[in-house]
Amino acid sequence: MQFGYFDDERREYVITRPDTPLPWINYLGCEEYFGIISHTAGGYSFFRDARLRRLTRYRYNNAPLDLGGRYLYLRDDRSGQTWSPSWMPARSALSQFTCRHGLGYTTIASTFDNIHVETTYFVPLGETLEIWRCRMTNQRAEPADLSLFSSIEFCLWDAWDDATNFQRNFSTGEVEIEDGVIYHKTEYRERRNHFAYFACSAPIEGFDTQREAFLGAYRGWDAPLAVERGSLSNSVAHGWQPIGAHHVRLSLAPGETREVIFVLGYHENPKDQKFDPPGSQTLNKRTVKPVIARYLDSHQVQQALDDLRAYWDGLLRIQQARTPNLHVDRMVNIWNPYQCMATFNISRSASLYESGIGRGLGFRDSNQDLLGFVHMVPERARQRILDLAATQLPSGGAYHQYQPLTKRGNNDIGSNFNDDPHWLILAVAAYIKETGDWSILDEAVPYDNLPGSETPLYEHLQRAVQYTLDRLGPHGLPLIGRADWNDCLNLNCFSDTPGQSFQTTTNKDGKVAESIFIAGLFVLSTQELAALAERTGRLEDAARYRAESARMRELIYQYGWDGEWFLRAYDDFGNKVGSQECQEGKIFIEPQGFCVLAGVGLENGYAQRALDSVARWLATPHGIVLQQPAYSRYYLHLGEISSYPPGYKENAGIFCHNNPWVMIAETRVGNGARAMEYYLRINPSNREAISEVHRCEPYVYAQMIAGKDAPTHGEAKNSWLTGTAAWNYVAITQWILGVRPELDGLRIDPCIPPEWEGFTFRRIFRGAEYVIEVRNPRHVSKGVTAVRVDGKVWQGNLLPILPPGVHTIEVELG
Ligand code: BGC
Ligand code: NOJ
Repeated sequence: MQFGYFDDERREYVITRPDTPLPWINYLGCEEYFGIISHTAGGYSFFRDARLRRLTRYRYNNAPLDLGGRYLYLRDDRSGQTWSPSWMPARSALSQFTCRHGLGYTTIASTFDNIHVETTYFVPLGETLEIWRCRMTNQRAEPADLSLFSSIEFCLWDAWDDATNFQRNFSTGEVEIEDGVIYHKTEYRERRNHFAYFACSAPIEGFDTQREAFLGAYRGWDAPLAVERGSLSNSVAHGWQPIGAHHVRLSLAPGETREVIFVLGYHENPKDQKFDPPGSQTLNKRTVKPVIARYLDSHQVQQALDDLRAYWDGLLRIQQARTPNLHVDRMVNIWNPYQCMATFNISRSASLYESGIGRGLGFRDSNQDLLGFVHMVPERARQRILDLAATQLPSGGAYHQYQPLTKRGNNDIGSNFNDDPHWLILAVAAYIKETGDWSILDEAVPYDNLPGSETPLYEHLQRAVQYTLDRLGPHGLPLIGRADWNDCLNLNCFSDTPGQSFQTTTNKDGKVAESIFIAGLFVLSTQELAALAERTGRLEDAARYRAESARMRELIYQYGWDGEWFLRAYDDFGNKVGSQECQEGKIFIEPQGFCVLAGVGLENGYAQRALDSVARWLATPHGIVLQQPAYSRYYLHLGEISSYPPGYKENAGIFCHNNPWVMIAETRVGNGARAMEYYLRINPSNREAISEVHRCEPYVYAQMIAGKDAPTHGEAKNSWLTGTAAWNYVAITQWILGVRPELDGLRIDPCIPPEWEGFTFRRIFRGAEYVIEVRNPRHVSKGVTAVRVDGKVWQGNLLPILPPGVHTIEVELG
């Protein structure tokens, strides 16, 4: 069952009924000012940091789930009827409803009693504000007298404090109202020099800034008293809950359309120019007023919307595919890169499942996210790499997270996730492959942000490898530390205290438990580092890293192979995890995917056997589960993984992040049919038809789909902010369609379903545009037999770096 459809032409998902299984959201903003917006206008906004600079209030896990947002209300002043044009919060009986989630904007349109209302929400490029452009059309045969009300609830900036510290916060709220603009200035009198404002393009009848005055005592957002009455009371908030609400009256002739623009924004003043006149307590509005005036102008708003479209066109143009499969095209060309940019902008901080008050930027998360956006924003990716590397510790290890506002490592979470540093090597390699910018290796970068500790970035990568070499266990395999990629496999935690964090509790000295996953990651990262070393003339280093890689591969064969698949780990007692010998958790997905992806087992048949075991034991119609059998009880020595009921999250859920490792692994053994099959099982667009089962948005990946042990098998959770976005994008573009940047050029090495006749792929790479036509006349999965570049025969399948301009590449498989 579907709740909407894809409009590929306009790059929108169109939701056609408001009662989707869950709120389906979109993101506004792509620089400093961000918001989340649901299809019924729920959500909130923030400047840079979702916790510390929250503009509007949002109560997570509310009932109904998504309540609080950018709500408009309409009132028919002749009949007294009122309604919500975004359906929520009044859940009005609309005769028509659509929500178009597009790239950086959302348009909600509806009709009620022949009044059509269409509101577009977006953040203009280069600004710290959002626009709500509301257009109302009278489709009646007679004139309509309407009242339009806006509303938002201000957050008192620090979202955590705002949600907990009521004894103070009920007394601090302050606003100013001038020329119809509502200014929210709580704490401006003391140490803040920023404020929020909410403006309206039309002359207003009245305003409210005190929540209770607007809603009425004991009432909620579904039925504000002021809307029912048809007038606001010009309330001025002193403490309690400051809000912003405007009232605009409109008389519309039959067929007439009117536009009203609301602007909600964030503004900072220099510390010594906060007040006007100086010495008063009145906001200095001199620099904000021109900004407000600009965006209350209809032409400027249209121009800003056009600029936003052009921005996204530019990003998405870099990689475009046309294949026999619609779901591939749609995700590759539009939604998957769009989601990758969301992970770049928001990391794991703010979604419907991430409350914006919790996590900073994860070290491993951000390095992996980079794989999915480096081609779109290479300069910003470069900066992200340098920021991440600066939180590395002298040991080569890394803070697990850092705070985006300060760029400092987070001491509460600390370090000792032993996979972390290796992801930096993969990110740097991906950056150089994409850009050819070798200079990044010479950048002086500190450790733990300490001035004076700088070394070239290259040495950071060396220390990352050394970190593991300094932490090998009894079998010579990498010690796992607190956890590796699987944050919930906590082999040194042994926590029996309720509520204790599995992430930060360590009760063992950590000298025994080893990770075969990290071993696989090490094989890959040392190969990558060897290639970088070789290309920069560090031949001894290159030889050493190659030798380390080979040695680790041998250790995996010796101690990490269970007979039919790769083992997952050794626990603190030296017992196997992910083995036939185990009662539960006999086989795990991560080492099968990652070892084979790294090339382990290709030469001795282990790779094929491991992948056959995945197909046999882990694959389901909804994707590949993380392990089997699921843990049926809590195991002290395994940690959080066994805290989840079977089938959810890391306990045998379908973790969409590591499914693409298996897809890539399948391409490495040449099985294009299976790679595509796995790809399609979790491809959101392909799951659109079962939206009532999947429940999350059909246009973006979710972190998890409930596994076969769960009563809700097939149900997705935690959409949007997940490493799933980057890895699926890498799997489909670089390994299945096989257009892969390498240090020396663009590799074309598709591994596709044999029935495909071929496909085309446009790729802008190092300043040139490659228009690649792949033909598959003999219906194979893999194997390039002929290549022509601009009509001339080219040897091999590594395309050279071509001069600027458009180039035709013909590729034949056979
Ligand atoms: C989740 C993991 C996550 C970890 C760290 C756990 O509760 O299951 O997916 O990585 O928290 O935040
Ligand atoms: C989500 C975390 O953000 C990521 O770092 C981790 O690898 C996965 N969960 C798996 O536990």
